[in-house]
Amino acid sequence: MCGIVAYIGHREAYPILIKGLSRLEYRGYDSAGVALINGSLNIYKKKGKVADLENETAGKNVSGKLGMGHTRWATHGEPNDANSHPHLSQSGDVAIIHNGIIENYATLKEELGNRGHEFKSDTDTEVLVHLIEDVQQNTGCELEEAVRLALHEVVGAYAIVIISKNDPAKLIGARKGSPLVVGIGDGEYFMASDASPIIEYTKNVTYLNDGEMAFIKNGELTVKTIDNVVQTPYIQTLEMNLEAIEKGGYEHFMLKEIHEQPKSIYDSLRGRFNPQTGSFAMRSLKEYEGKIKNLNRIIIVGCGTSWHAGLVGEYLFEEISRIPVEVEYASEFRYRNPVVGEDDLVIAISQSGETADTLAAIELAKEKGATIFGLCNVVGSSIPRASHAGAYTHAGPEIGVASTKAFTAQVSILTLLAFGFAELRGKATKQDLRNAFAELESMPAKVEKTLQCEEKVKQLAEWIKDANNVLYLGRGYGFPVALEGALKLKEISYIHAEGYPAAEMKHGPIALIDENMPVIVVATKNSIYEKVISNIQEVKARKGKIIAIVTEGDDKVKKMADHVIEVPETSEFLVPLIATIPLQLLSYYVAVSRGCNVDQPRNLAKSVTVE
Ligand code: M6R
Repeated sequence: MCGIVAYIGHREAYPILIKGLSRLEYRGYDSAGVALINGSLNIYKKKGKVADLENETAGKNVSGKLGMGHTRWATHGEPNDANSHPHLSQSGDVAIIHNGIIENYATLKEELGNRGHEFKSDTDTEVLVHLIEDVQQNTGCELEEAVRLALHEVVGAYAIVIISKNDPAKLIGARKGSPLVVGIGDGEYFMASDASPIIEYTKNVTYLNDGEMAFIKNGELTVKTIDNVVQTPYIQTLEMNLEAIEKGGYEHFMLKEIHEQPKSIYDSLRGRFNPQTGSFAMRSLKEYEGKIKNLNRIIIVGCGTSWHAGLVGEYLFEEISRIPVEVEYASEFRYRNPVVGEDDLVIAISQSGETADTLAAIELAKEKGATIFGLCNVVGSSIPRASHAGAYTHAGPEIGVASTKAFTAQVSILTLLAFGFAELRGKATKQDLRNAFAELESMPAKVEKTLQCEEKVKQLAEWIKDANNVLYLGRGYGFPVALEGALKLKEISYIHAEGYPAAEMKHGPIALIDENMPVIVVATKNSIYEKVISNIQEVKARKGKIIAIVTEGDDKVKKMADHVIEVPETSEFLVPLIATIPLQLLSYYVAVSRGCNVDQPRNLAKSVTVE
């Protein structure tokens, strides 16, 4: 939540900050602001989008070679100009931007208030910058030391950047629980929530670890822990390129990302298996072979779409590897004292690798002795760092708030893992693996073919766009697909949608069905195809309107449904990779047709780094 970007060097900071904020806007778009130092400290901030901030700064003095910018997803204090970042200290000399939550801000605010501090916003962040200045004034230390000491008094999560009018050659950042990456250029440095604002200028970066701070002082970078131990930063060269974070001719990132799926699925699997020999090349599988052979249970934790991928994982691991699986919302798991032990493997799924609830679930499971396998997309993010083992999905940057290609990449790897575990536990032969891998290998082409339904889906979207409610039904592997389809529709078009196991409908939701209710059914050919047909009949009998996702060539459902969308035939366990695609497109076109902001839906942010 919230995006931060900062610059110190030989260029004008403002254009770098604005471009960086636009790239980070997926993290929050309640308000945006910048602070620039050029003799004086100039702050501009505005409720709304980065474009609103640009209007606000038009014709104003935005010069300065040291500056920082923020795009906000509101937690403490409503989205308005006053609560926008940057925030200033009591004297107005020190400025801060922050991503995260200072949990003990109320106590700190009261103490500072008793010492005469006055606050201009309702935010927790403003309290921190007042505290930093207070510490500096009381100790007479350097600004970076005041930041360090102040952070010792703070409970909560943060990535912060600080600049001061009195220290125009210093840029200070720190992280605990929220990401912060430092870009190292030629005589210039950057700090940001992720690498997207940086890669245009340098690919050399270092990701701060939790509890570390970085400061640039007179052109030199120092990294130390907030316990004052100097660290040698691990500088890595990123492979990400600029095209990956631009729209590339598509109207929205979401549409681009839907269309990228043949490639992202391919990239997620590339080099990880050999269909000829039926062998794997996943380091984590090799390392944890003993553990996998003997594990008692798999617990999958995640949120939102990643949780849906986890549900697919449950079906895969139980069917293919014959391992008992529980799938948990990370937000529930972390607070319900679950029974977890050393023989359990916890698979934490997260696109961003920063979701606060998933991170907390990992910490809890670790305390209880479980082994953690992180399945994440963002390289260097917090969840992979907190995990014992893991795999990156390699789907490339996902910028649209609605998750699409991350989901199919997660499911691809879970499928691979299910077969890997099955082999290790003697539940699959080499021939089973060769067959499964051959089918997996054909997925990018099948997804490409599925995308040909786009025109048809576009027409159906015109019909759905005026609905008040939509029901999504599926059974077996079709059930998580139904849940995912419904989530996509609600989050970007604001139409209420429910995903339900098709057979459960008769235990309640069937009461909702009438001639105005569109019902979308995943009805591909599988072991319970006939059962799904019975469920379709039940809907028809109540005059519900049906769109069915069917296997190409299917005549039976075609006769019953109002509309069908055909998808290529595939093995049952691979249906989620195919059947999800038309549902992503449907929600996209419904949202576009309703005039919704597809990439930045209201109230949402891409990575939820607060609980
Ligand atoms: O980054 P994560 O995968 O951990 O994010 C989890 C959810 O916040 C995310 O999937 C959310 O539900 C998406 N907006 C769904 O499209």
